[in-house]
Amino acid sequence: MAKYVINTLNRKSKINREIYGHFSEHLGRCIYGGFYVGENSPIPNTKGIRNDVVEALKKIRIPVLRWPGGCFADEYHWMDGIGPKEQRKKMINTHWGGVVEDNSFGTDEFMELCRQLECEPYINGNLGSGTVKEMQDWIEYLTFDGISPMSELRAKNGRKEPYRLKYFCIGNENWGCGGNMRPEFYADMYRRYQTYVRNYGNNKIYKIACGPNSDDYNWTETVVKIAGRFMDAISLHYYTVPGTWHSKGSSTKFTEEEWYITLFKTLKMDELITKHTAIIRRYDPDNRIGLVVDEWGTWYDVEPGTNPGFLYQQNTMRDALVAGINLNIFNKHSDKVVMANLAQTINVLQAVILTEGEKMLLTPTYHVFDMYKEHQGAELVESFIETEKVGTDKYTVPNLHESASVNADGKLHITLCNLSLSESYRVETEIIGKKAENVTGRILTGKMNDHNTFDAPETVKPQTFDKISVTQNGLVIEIPPVSVVSITVD
Ligand code: AHR
Repeated sequence: MAKYVINTLNRKSKINREIYGHFSEHLGRCIYGGFYVGENSPIPNTKGIRNDVVEALKKIRIPVLRWPGGCFADEYHWMDGIGPKEQRKKMINTHWGGVVEDNSFGTDEFMELCRQLECEPYINGNLGSGTVKEMQDWIEYLTFDGISPMSELRAKNGRKEPYRLKYFCIGNENWGCGGNMRPEFYADMYRRYQTYVRNYGNNKIYKIACGPNSDDYNWTETVVKIAGRFMDAISLHYYTVPGTWHSKGSSTKFTEEEWYITLFKTLKMDELITKHTAIIRRYDPDNRIGLVVDEWGTWYDVEPGTNPGFLYQQNTMRDALVAGINLNIFNKHSDKVVMANLAQTINVLQAVILTEGEKMLLTPTYHVFDMYKEHQGAELVESFIETEKVGTDKYTVPNLHESASVNADGKLHITLCNLSLSESYRVETEIIGKKAENVTGRILTGKMNDHNTFDAPETVKPQTFDKISVTQNGLVIEIPPVSVVSITVD
């Protein structure tokens, strides 16, 4: 038995829709074969973009998409990806498999993709190997509404009207693949580059600085101290790697111990956000600077037989729990976390969609995003759940993990995860400030390594959840092991 209290009268912070964002890099089959197949493909598409993928992502209300990297961003020269396709330069994708990038998907195609998805574009600029002028010109090409070399080039390429661009990050992982810089050097470079990221007309850019690698607190402190007043937000990257970077572990064949290790490592996200927030607040007491967790998710060994540079992995109930826990953590920190982007949308790392030719499947992680989508734009409410420790001697985790929000129509949305591999729990839930009427629920559950394949694409999918009973002051929820549950109280 566990006690759970939700106080709908204590509204904490707005859960920015962008917390449910995604990330797409020119890596493996994320863009090519994933999003983009070209206009001549037999796979149904609109302007080269897969219709099935767009439909699936609109269903989970994708709010924002980050592009073109990742590490790729700091060697991407945007001018190579505009204009007539046959004239576009080919390049080597040195980070990801050394394959030829033909630049057939570039700026105009990305903006078209976001138009079809009805989501905000989030572009990551090249500070590592690009020039200040290149970055300045890119913003002008995208957003300038007037006569200028870049707006004329845009018009020549078929787009007279400027695009609207809000989110722009100045460099990616500049402590590593983005130039191996020291934080002092990056902070000065950031100050310089961001100067030329202009606001044209009504377009206002939300400037994001490259933040730390997981617990590199010195990076955050130095960059915010030197450049904080020039940024709207700073990023954070943290991946869940069950093993070591040399031997990360299989995405589908794992032990019970690895299950708990993975969830234990996922829960570190809470500590990282708390500590980085405390550091940022030292220099930003008014809480103006946001935190953008623009890369998160699981990272395993690639599927046997696939290109090691393509980072293709399967996705099981373990990934569903990783997603459920992370999204609950972001909700709980929504006073600081303004955006988060799962790495990566299709065919790469903890993907929500996998494709094989014309086939497409939805992963357990996709279903979690679907079940959590009611939190988008809602208000986080105060909640507390009594937990006990489960796991192995070395890796213990709380058995239950939750968050709750109330939306503009007054509907309460609860998302609850059971991390235990063996135990069900009876959760006695007290709801303060709202009567429990019209209660509906969905559940995603299965065995720990259950996953969807192209032969069996619906092994893991949400079911109606009816193990909920209404009591005088709330609900009783009977939650089975290995499960993610979403409940709406109307
Ligand atoms: O998401 C894969 C890679 O992980 C990104 O390119 C990079 O930013 C990070 O190290």
